[in-house]
Amino acid sequence: MSAEATSPAKVGIIMGSQSDLRVMGDAAEILEEFAVPHELTIVSAHRTPQRLVEYAESAASRGIDVIIAGAGGAAHLPGMVASMTPLPVIGVPVKASISIDGWDSILSILQMPAGVPVATVAMDNARNAALLAVQILGCADSDLRDKMTAYKQALAAKVETMVERVDREGWRAVRSSL
Ligand code: RP5
Repeated sequence: MSAEATSPAKVGIIMGSQSDLRVMGDAAEILEEFAVPHELTIVSAHRTPQRLVEYAESAASRGIDVIIAGAGGAAHLPGMVASMTPLPVIGVPVKASISIDGWDSILSILQMPAGVPVATVAMDNARNAALLAVQILGCADSDLRDKMTAYKQALAAKVETMVERVDREGWRAVRSSL
């Protein structure tokens, strides 16, 4: 597996195809921002089923704490990984070129049977998957939790800045500048 950080990875980012990198790269960027060691690789449920089994069965013993899995169309990767690991799995439905309208990806990942949860985020929202992974790790890491608090404060500050601009410049000026 290709490592993205020097220390052992805590989050494993996997995806069904290189074509999913367009979306899944966002998860790696967020984890870089939070300095969370992670790895990123391609594991196809349909084209490399044996690799899927090896990844899912070895992730916990390799030190991974959370798996983020993205796939599109008949998106079986997150659910199948979840079926073979005790680790939490966060699923990212990708609107792939083979997707009908994206609902195929969403429902394939969301509608898991009882007993095998996959925490499913919004379509193409790998950023939220990574933030959720950080929050999960933050349960046992107060530094990470503090970073998440700061991240949320920065989000609020951005909105407040925009509120002031709308009040000061008017909504038409703000709209034309976006
Ligand atoms: C899925 O099929 C992958 O996750 C990807 O979203 C989709 C299309 O794959 P490619 O044909 O682009 O490799 O398994």
